[in-house]
Amino acid sequence: MLKGKKILIGVTGSIAAYKIPILVRLLIRQGAEVKILMTPASADFVSRLTLSTLSKNPVLTELFDDESWANHVMLGRWADVMLVAPLSCNTLSKMATGRSDNLLVATYLSATCPVIVAPAMDEDMWLHHSTAENLELLQKNHVTVIPVEHGELASGLVGDGRMAEPESLVAFLEDFFRVKEQLKGKKALVTAGPTYEQIDPVRFIGNHSSGKMGYAIADELARRGAEVVLISGPVLVKAKEQRVRVEKVEGAAAMHAAATAHSDYDIAVLTAAVADYTPEEVSGQKIKKTDGELIIRLKKTKDILADLGRQKKAGQVLVGFALETENEHVNARKKLEEKNADMIVLNSLQDEGAGFGGDNNKVTFFFREGQPKEFGLRSKKQVARDIVDSILELTV
Ligand code: CTP
Repeated sequence: MLKGKKILIGVTGSIAAYKIPILVRLLIRQGAEVKILMTPASADFVSRLTLSTLSKNPVLTELFDDESWANHVMLGRWADVMLVAPLSCNTLSKMATGRSDNLLVATYLSATCPVIVAPAMDEDMWLHHSTAENLELLQKNHVTVIPVEHGELASGLVGDGRMAEPESLVAFLEDFFRVKEQLKGKKALVTAGPTYEQIDPVRFIGNHSSGKMGYAIADELARRGAEVVLISGPVLVKAKEQRVRVEKVEGAAAMHAAATAHSDYDIAVLTAAVADYTPEEVSGQKIKKTDGELIIRLKKTKDILADLGRQKKAGQVLVGFALETENEHVNARKKLEEKNADMIVLNSLQDEGAGFGGDNNKVTFFFREGQPKEFGLRSKKQVARDIVDSILELTV
């Protein structure tokens, strides 16, 4: 899996740097090409000579020396992936804020390849809110974070903050390259979030959908190599993966037009909470209050899932969502048939912490053939992975 892959490792000043020679040896053994950058501080923890010998390449530290300039732009372009391991608190804060005072951070800032980091720090530093905030900033910039492990730390204390072991880092990289190929060349369409149905210039009918589930699915499809078009209603969340192209819309009609314009998808996952009804007439002026009651007549919107189901061609995989409060299984199956979907994800509102707005979800998948798959309460990110795993089974 790693044969011929170009891996750029950034080593920073942390005791866990002693694990990097082993990592390099494992990668080279698998046939990867490895180049290494070190921060000046990391040289106290691991030697340049060891790393250049094992990687079979010169190790770079400085942006400039007496007669040359290290081409950080070309390094970032050379690599298939940049792995910063171990990632110290100091380099983390520089990466998060774009403080380019060494070759490693300059390369990170100009890297066009995906970037993965493996943090390593003592538990108190790991738990500090600034660490969490900086990691969040990195993730917003599409950086993948390898979780720290629990165990003995440099301080002698036992806790969270250990860098993942070299074997785990290799497994993470293998997984990274494997999943990137799974949906390569496929086009995915995702709808997400609520729709806002205009009543007058200042009012609308909306719902509480946060868009988190749909965005997590769009990110997951992109992580597996698909080119993703995400038609999104008004939400605060943002896509993390670069391969997700977001088209923002407001009303159900606009979402229908935007989604059906991409009917050449290979995979479509419709998670949006589209309004079923919209005002028959939109007032051009703000509606003034009067003494009597106000009646707004509503008309039905077009069903995007049903329309895509009608137009579905062989080989296309269409997935819808269902949110039911009663006769859940019967209604989900009915939706599968009526909308000609290949899979329906039933959201349960029965469990605390699941559903709208939150970070968790409890789902059951229904397919045209075979038994439903039921899951426990899990993060929306994990649910997105489960959904894409099932989609992969439908595409083979
Ligand atoms: N959907 C859609 N376009 C609509 C309405 C719904 O694409 N105008 C999609 C949703 O994104 C979701 C699925 O259809 O994938 C939900 O089906 P729907 O019949 O709307 O379910 P409920 O809202 O639960 O409706 P009801 O129970 O009232 O039938």
